[in-house]
Amino acid sequence: MKKTVTLTFSDGSPPIELPIEQGTYGTPVIDIRPLGAKGYFTHDPGFTATSSCTSAITYIDGEQGLLYYRGYPIEELAYKADHMEVCYLLLHGELPTAAQKQAFVDSISHHSMLHDQMENVFRGFRRSAHPMAVMIGVTGAMSAFYHEGMDIFDARHREIVAHRLIAKIPTVAAWAYKFNEGQPFIYPRNRLSYAENFMHMMFSTPCEDYEPNPVLARALDRIFILHADHEQNASTSTVRLAGSSGANPYACIAAGMASLWGPLHGGANEAVLKMLDEMGDVSRIPEFIKRAKDKSDSFRLMGFGHRVYKNMDPRARIIRQTCYEVLDALDLRDDPQFRMAMELERIALEDEYFISRKLYPNVDFYSGIIFRAMGIPSSMFTVMFALARTAGWVAQWNEMLADPAHKIGRPRQLYTGPARREFVPIGERTA
Ligand code: CMC
Repeated sequence: MKKTVTLTFSDGSPPIELPIEQGTYGTPVIDIRPLGAKGYFTHDPGFTATSSCTSAITYIDGEQGLLYYRGYPIEELAYKADHMEVCYLLLHGELPTAAQKQAFVDSISHHSMLHDQMENVFRGFRRSAHPMAVMIGVTGAMSAFYHEGMDIFDARHREIVAHRLIAKIPTVAAWAYKFNEGQPFIYPRNRLSYAENFMHMMFSTPCEDYEPNPVLARALDRIFILHADHEQNASTSTVRLAGSSGANPYACIAAGMASLWGPLHGGANEAVLKMLDEMGDVSRIPEFIKRAKDKSDSFRLMGFGHRVYKNMDPRARIIRQTCYEVLDALDLRDDPQFRMAMELERIALEDEYFISRKLYPNVDFYSGIIFRAMGIPSSMFTVMFALARTAGWVAQWNEMLADPAHKIGRPRQLYTGPARREFVPIGERTA
């Protein structure tokens, strides 16, 4: 028998029975949809206890620190698969066969060039524009190139959107960097892997080819896997909400990027390095820990804490290991920032404030150190996150539109403004 919950009211109004749904895993969900018809809304700012959709893509167990894509633990995917397989998995629900993977990789490679006119879009920005601003602008501008004739309710059209986005976003990202640097744009090279091609577009110049180091390319590919999806976070929910009205998908992904940019979300990796730079030396860790605990100070330990993980973020563990591998490959084993980050983690994890609030390092804590070691500047860190998360955004957008029951997103509110009042003509108003 299906479990239900009964709402009773202190004023004697009739009780309301609500069904309880149970997914494959996770917290049971009370289906509150009947409430609207009965004259009640629920109030949950920040969606701390609200499920906004059904999804079969990603599962997080925040208490145990588990992350699954389509049922596969993140550790297995990070160490045994590559990003192309993971993109296919997120989009199609199954890992590809060798032939399916080859066809997918071919399609991605052949969609990686940008429309020639897109160069003009880049050139419209000022040189010093933050690369995330450029990413958002250029991705939004893609909606102008791909709009007429697109039917978002046709599965094949949605597949083309997905392939274009996964293929072109690395080019947009690398060109945002090149534009900042004042260097010529470098075109994608189809014989390279996804990560190698990105490194090529970032670091080659017309005068000199960049030979990607295989350890670094593998590390980058793994970072892409770790960031590929994370269920209904702020940016993914933004993509879904924007897309729920039937809007152009490229514009929806640009909206997701805007949401990701904030320092509490994808902007945290950039903020971690700023914090470590400011700290400068392990001797100043206690001072920063003290500030993070001080409620009169808005400072937070960046790269620590998570809305869902109340245990170690499983991605942080993998990324710390990857950090060792990258620093080893570059002969930077004694990198002072890495030492400082490890010491900061050790001290925070022994501190009652962080223990009692279940604040652990998240995925962003170590990624910046890897990026910097690879020569990627901190202004590009959130761009790297956006590049990887594009797969998840587009998979979630596709899942929503494939569901014939999907509705436009339209939250309600608890109105606390003035009650109805009379209009006062301007000459009669007093301050
Ligand atoms: N440093 C110090 N105190 C913290 C931190 C932190 N990084 N994070 C949370 N707290 C405290 C917070 O002050 C609150 O304390 P109290 O109960 O005494 O008021 C308690 O822990 C709960 O915090 P919250 O803000 O209610 O939790 P939340 O779920 O709303 O916020 C978060 C989650 C990620 C926004 C927050 O932990 C944070 O600001 N972290 C730093 C930014 C960061 O690293 N973001 C990256 C998230 S992972 C990448 C991604 O998925 O985007």
